[in-house]
Amino acid sequence: MSILKIARMGHPVLKKRAEAIADPTEPKYHKLVADMLETLVDAGGVGLAAPQVHVSERLVIFHVPQSRMAEERYKEAGLDDETGEVPLTVLINPVIEPLSDEMAEAYEGCLSIPGMMGAVKRYTHIRYSGIGLDGEPFARDAKGFHARVVQHECDHLDGVLYPQRIEDMIKFGYNEEMKMRMQADMDAQEGEA
Ligand code: NI
Repeated sequence: MSILKIARMGHPVLKKRAEAIADPTEPKYHKLVADMLETLVDAGGVGLAAPQVHVSERLVIFHVPQSRMAEERYKEAGLDDETGEVPLTVLINPVIEPLSDEMAEAYEGCLSIPGMMGAVKRYTHIRYSGIGLDGEPFARDAKGFHARVVQHECDHLDGVLYPQRIEDMIKFGYNEEMKMRMQADMDAQEGEA
């Protein structure tokens, strides 16, 4: 296994539509997923799409650990933690279907845009389907943070980065600055109560 170089915003590989994978059981995809997993763990992210490691093919990996980061983002989104932990998932040639019109705004980051975060609206309840590394099709319903992660990762396969979905650019900035401001806003609200 090896840690792969992550493409950053501005690189053409992040802007184009990735190709469908004909045979996910080919050994090269096992190696790709092993390397992507090592890269994801090293970078400390929750998801990674193949184009982010310079492979323009329709494959994403993600997991939702019961970590503090996930819990904080649930709170930001005003969602409960009904979806809980999601094990590491390899999703190939994914299709996303919203199960309701409801959308929620929450802050996202991306390993291709290090050090920054922005508020993005996503569907709160989706069904996603695709193929696993074993070549078997599967489908899952997802809500909240889980649904958000899948929508973010699958956007990468269509050449879309989260800043393209930010509606109010005042909600885009450097992590340290944004977190300081959020804390100040929370303190002010507590003061008013
Ligand atoms: Ni990303």
